[in-house]
Amino acid sequence: NDMKVLIATEKPFAKKAVDGIKKIITDAGYEVALLEKYTDKAQLLAAVADANALIIRSDKVTAEVIEAAKNLKIVVRAGAGYDNVDLAAATAKGIVVMNTPGQNSNAVAELALGMMVFMARNQFTPGTGSELKGKTLAIHAYGNVGKLVGRKGKALGMNVIAFDPFITDAKVFEADGVKKVDSIEELYAQADYLSLHIPATEQTKKSIGHKLMTSMPKGATLVNTARKEVIDEAGVIQAMTEREDLKYITDIAPEAAAEMSEKFGKRFFATPKKMGAETAEANINAGLAAANQIVDFFKTGNTRFQVNK
Ligand code: 3PG
Repeated sequence: NDMKVLIATEKPFAKKAVDGIKKIITDAGYEVALLEKYTDKAQLLAAVADANALIIRSDKVTAEVIEAAKNLKIVVRAGAGYDNVDLAAATAKGIVVMNTPGQNSNAVAELALGMMVFMARNQFTPGTGSELKGKTLAIHAYGNVGKLVGRKGKALGMNVIAFDPFITDAKVFEADGVKKVDSIEELYAQADYLSLHIPATEQTKKSIGHKLMTSMPKGATLVNTARKEVIDEAGVIQAMTEREDLKYITDIAPEAAAEMSEKFGKRFFATPKKMGAETAEANINAGLAAANQIVDFFKTGNTRFQVNK
C-alpha cells in the first residue's frame, strides 16, 4: 500500500509533534512528505500533486490546491477552525475534510486568560492596574475553548456568563458554574472581559463592531483569540475613539493594526503572528490526532470528525 501523507505547515509543528506524526504514518505502512515554512503557493501546489492525504494548520487549501491534488482523499486540519479550507471545492471532488476538535483548546484558553491579565496590568508597564477577580467574564460561544476559558475564569474568582446560539440547555453552562444569558446583546452589556470563541463563517464575519462594543461596561476589554475576520474593524475603531475606556487585544493582527496601535496605544495589542495554539502540547495533541484520524480513515473508513458531510 503506497499511500502518501503530506504534512504542509507554513507555521511548523514542534519537532516532537512532527516526529510523532511520522511514526504513526510509517507504522501504518504509509509514506510521509514534509513541507514546512513554505513561502510560495507554488511550493504547496507542487507538493500536493501526488499526496493521498494532507495534514495542515491554517494553511489555505483553495480550489486551486484541490485541483492540483489529483490523488487527494482526505484533508485534516490539525486544529479547530477550518475557514482556511474551501469545503465546497473539496466536497465536489469527494474529498473528506476533518478537523481535530478540542486538541489545541487548552493552549488557546490559557492565552485568552493571559491576555486579560496583560491588559489589566497596563501591558506589563508601570502604573496601577486592576485584578480579574470579581470582574464579569463573558464568553461568546461555549465550545471547546469557551468552556475551558469559563472554568479557568471561575478559578480566578471571576463572575462567568456565556452565550452560545447553538446551546439552549442551561445545564451545559451550570455544570461549570457559568450563567447562561439569552442574547448576544445581554452578553456584551455585562462584559468586563468579552472572550470571543466564534468561528469565521458567512454569518459571523464582521459581526462584532461598534454597536456591541459600545454596549460594554466602562473599562471593558474585548479579547479575540478566535479570528480577525469576525471583527468589523472600522466599527471597533469608531467605538474605541468615542469611548476612551475600551480596550482590544487580539491574537492576530487586524488589517488596521498600525492605525489601532497609533490611535489607542496601551488600549490595543495584537500578537505579530497567531500564537494561540503555539504550544508543544497543542502541536502534539492536534498533530497526532490528525495522523491517527487519517490512518483510521484509510484502514476503517471512520469519518467521525468530518466537517463536510
Ligand atoms: C485553530 O483554529 O485550531 C487555531 O486557530 C490554531 O491555528 P494554527 O494551527 O494556525 O495555530
